[in-house]
Amino acid sequence: MENKIEDEKISIEDIKPDKSLRILTGDRPTGKLHIGHYFGSLKSRVELQDKFETFIEVADVQALTDNFNNPDKVKQNVSQIVMDYLSVGMDPNKLTIFLQSQIPEIAELTIFYSNLVTIARLQRNPTVKTEIAQKKELFGESVTYGFLGYPVSQAADITAFDASYVPVGEDQLPLIEQCREIVRKFNSIYGETLREPVAVMSNTGRIKGLDGNEKMGKSLGNALYLSDDLQTITEKVMSALTDPARIKKDDPGNPNICMVYYYHKLFSDEDTCKNVCEECKAGKRGCVACKKQLIENINKTLAPIREKRHYFEERPQEVMDILMSGTSHAREIAKETMQKVKEAMKLNY
Ligand code: TRP
Repeated sequence: MENKIEDEKISIEDIKPDKSLRILTGDRPTGKLHIGHYFGSLKSRVELQDKFETFIEVADVQALTDNFNNPDKVKQNVSQIVMDYLSVGMDPNKLTIFLQSQIPEIAELTIFYSNLVTIARLQRNPTVKTEIAQKKELFGESVTYGFLGYPVSQAADITAFDASYVPVGEDQLPLIEQCREIVRKFNSIYGETLREPVAVMSNTGRIKGLDGNEKMGKSLGNALYLSDDLQTITEKVMSALTDPARIKKDDPGNPNICMVYYYHKLFSDEDTCKNVCEECKAGKRGCVACKKQLIENINKTLAPIREKRHYFEERPQEVMDILMSGTSHAREIAKETMQKVKEAMKLNY
């Protein structure tokens, strides 16, 4: 029953650009963004901002569901994440970046929706289930009410803005499905009010870490950050995992198990990738030279981003102004939704 997910996800190319349709997505501000985020979501947001009315939520309230004991971390990362957004070309004149905690309507909707979802259903949500298992240290034997319920709050995020499409990674699909269920339940009880959103999958799957790990992350120490300087990139790439069987330069290598080749495919042009592959297999390319070439190409992509980031790092007030003006625009829309919801629920006094 719950797994009818296949039908409700589409890829970005499947939708016709339409400025009258809203897109909503967001991130928990718990750390700086890395190139996994860049290829997985940020790049496509830069395209979407020209095609749809796009809203990007800095989900600080959601970040607190598993960082309630660390408000400083969440607060510090709010401006960091906005700087990451701006530095990759997300343009506040084209899209709206807003801060979840400053939109009380989202919290209000969360309370209303919480009547429409059972505890058992939340406990069965695959995303929540996996995350609870990973957070044993934080939650111990019993998870908090807030964390278990964050899919309800995420449904409020999406519906508050009447979003048609929600671009997310694979791991978020059960949350969008949960949102759709809440919407259907709401509409069936209170009358047709909310829109059922559709998940939009990014074309690139998850980017592996420099050590070959399936996941890239701060705790794993295998990530390249958008804010990394050339020296940091160099150190990280120099220690990337290569074919362990290749000891001497003229040993034939297997590029398919080499992270340097994997990253060339992300950052280098087709000809370079072909050369890397062939020369490595033929034992005609040393790993050090191959890494140096990769560093140069990564830097070609990251240098302009880093430069833009420096601009904003020196202007923290400008960054906060962008976030606050986006938030006040977003709030107007959330208020409209709230009015409709209160009418439907007979709470319009
Ligand atoms: N749960 C998302 C994540 O961890 C972040 C998020 C919060 C979100 N609200 C959202 C994503 C609404 C899409 C839509 O990455």
